[in-house]
Order: sequence, then structure tokens, then C-alpha cells
Amino acid sequence: MIPFVDLKAQYVSIKDEVNAAIQGVLQTCQFTLGTEVAAFEAEFAAYCEAKHGIGVNTGTSALHLALLAANIGPGDEVITVPFTFVATVSAICYTGARPVFVDIDPRTFNIDPDAIEAAITDRTKAIIPVHLYGQPADMDPILEIARRRGLAVIEDACQAHGAEYKGRRAGSLADIGCFSFYPGKNLGAYGEGGMVVTDNAEYARTVRMLRDWGAERKYHHVLKGYNYRLEGIQGAVLRVKLRHLETWTEARRAAAARYDRLLAGSGVRTPEAMPYARHVYHIYAIRTSNRRALQDALHAQGIQTGIHYPTPVHLLPAFADLGYARGEFPHAEQAAEEVLSLPMFPELTAEQCEVVARAVRGHAAERLESKALAGTA
Ligand SMILES: Cc1ncc(COP(=O)(O)O)c(C=O)c1O
Repeated sequence: MIPFVDLKAQYVSIKDEVNAAIQGVLQTCQFTLGTEVAAFEAEFAAYCEAKHGIGVNTGTSALHLALLAANIGPGDEVITVPFTFVATVSAICYTGARPVFVDIDPRTFNIDPDAIEAAITDRTKAIIPVHLYGQPADMDPILEIARRRGLAVIEDACQAHGAEYKGRRAGSLADIGCFSFYPGKNLGAYGEGGMVVTDNAEYARTVRMLRDWGAERKYHHVLKGYNYRLEGIQGAVLRVKLRHLETWTEARRAAAARYDRLLAGSGVRTPEAMPYARHVYHIYAIRTSNRRALQDALHAQGIQTGIHYPTPVHLLPAFADLGYARGEFPHAEQAAEEVLSLPMFPELTAEQCEVVARAVRGHAAERLESKALAGTA
């Protein structure tokens, strides 16, 4: 059995450190916010090369509060991609603004900068590029458009801890960056968690208030806020895990390089890392026109896979009211039909990579053989 992710293997490797950190919180009883969360905010912001970090309860809340800090609300439009996890789009809807989609670049699965201008209207207030799978979007042309048109840029870096664009860290490439610490993420909590990072002191102040009932100080509520606080135990666990993140990221990159090598010429398309990117491979997604059969074949051999994501957001029933139809974002739609995520986690061994690659290659070879047989029949 080769799991898609192996949280147990990671826990075992840091058990003593994590147990001690949790014990520490049990001793102080700082169960929500507190000193561990404050220390983690400072350390993670520094890791992202940003001035401020504000811990929140989920990545979705990070996006919601980032949008509110940028003053997005009813009547506004926010441009993003349909090929993302639903949270990106839901967070826009929470503010009362309207999500407006543009297609992806099929090479990177990220927003196509050339498609943005055509989607801008008088109501457009912001762009949310999603650094999907751990590879940063092509930020320079996005930031150039935003500057020229007076738009805010909010990075959905929920899959991109430690990713880099032209040598600079994801999350601090634009006005505000949003991270998720969902357990399976590259930096994952033992529960839920998220963070907003920014260089903008005013945005930071607003997000800090909004996550804790809009209070400037206890019981002095200056904004209508939320209960989006990060828990103390999560702060303590994440501090421990942050110390290992670079090692884990390099292990992911090594596993990706091994897959690339082993799958070359196999008939499936391997991910393309752009020259400007440090890809952190939250997901290693191959593309194949024969996904269902390949996934079934891998599962039959005990290899778990995932699909991120089978339906682009514009075609999900929940967003039918936006009025989009099939065919409007052909690259996103085709990606949704073809992507297959292979097992990817830092503890994945060279042998496990080889087993997976052999199974993928074996399936492709079988397919060619049966095609040839059908041709001669
Ligand atoms: C691209 C993207 N955006 C937003 C989120 C939302 O994060 P969370 O699950 O922590 O709310 C996730 C992860 O789940 C994600 O992958």
C-alpha cells in the first residue's frame, strides 16, 4: 500500500518535539491565541519574508479577511480562476462580491495573465492568483496589470508554503498572502489553521481585529468581526513543524525530480516547473487522457491517488447562479478531466516512487499493446 499522504510517518519522525510542544500549551492553558501563536506568527511571517503575520483558524478565513481588509464588498468583482479548491471562490462570495473567472495557462494550471484584462470591468477591485499545487503564478504581469488598473492582488498561497517566484517567497509577492495549515498541507496543523501575511501595517491591523471580533482591545469592538482565532496548540505544533519545513520541501522536490525522470517518455504528461519558480509540490499532478483507467489500475495495485479537482468551480452546482456555462474556460475544463495526483509527501521513499512510476508505465504499455491488437484484429 502506498498512501497518497502519510501524516503518521511525519508524526513519528517529530513525535518527541511535538508532544513536548503540546504539553507546553497544556501547562500554560493558552488554548486560543497566546504566546505560541504570537511566536509562530512572527516566525512564519519572517519565513515568508513579510513584515506581519496574523494567525487565523483556516485558510478560508485568511482569504475572507484579506478581502475585507482590501475593502472588498457587495457590488465589487474579484478576478480569479475556476481551476482551484472551492474555498478561493467561496471566500469572495462571503464578502458579497462577485467572483469573475479567467482561464488558466495549461502549462502551469495557474491564472493566464494574458486573459485578465478582458475580464476587468468598472466593478473589478482585486485579483486572486492561486499558486496551485505549490507553483507560484506568473506574478510580474499580474502585478503590472493590477498597478495600472488600481486593483489589489491577494495571493492564495494555501498550497505554496516556501514556494518562490524569481527568488522571492510566495505570500509576500503582492498586497496580501493567505495560507492554510490544513493537516495535509506542506505545513499542516494538527487540526485547522491559516495565516494572513502582509507588509501593509493597515491591512495587518484590520485583519488582526477582524479575526477576534473586531476588537481593538478587550470589549472595545470597532469593526463587526469574526471568531477566526488560531488555537494555541496549533501555534505550538506549527512552530515545531516550521523548523523542518525546508528539509521536507527539499524532500518533496527530490521526489518530484525522481518521478519526472522515471516517467519521462511514459505517455503521461509530468508537471512543468517554470524557470521563475521554486515549485514546492504540494501536489504532483500528471495529465492523461485515460485518467479513469489509470487511476483504477493504480488503486488495484494499492497505490492511492487523488484528483485536484474533478470539476472546475464554474461548473459546480453551488455556483450555477454565476451564470457560466461549459466551454467558457476550456483549459480549466480539460485540466479537470485529465489531472491525476500521485502520492507525494516528504517521507515518500525512492522505492515507493519507483513502484508508482512502474505502475504508471506498465499501464501505458498495456494500453498501447491492446490498441495495437485492436488495430490488427
Ligand atoms: C487553493 C486553496 N485555497 C484555499 C484553501 C482553504 O484552506 P482551508 O481548508 O484551511 O480553509 C485551500 C485548502 O484547503 C486551498 O487548497
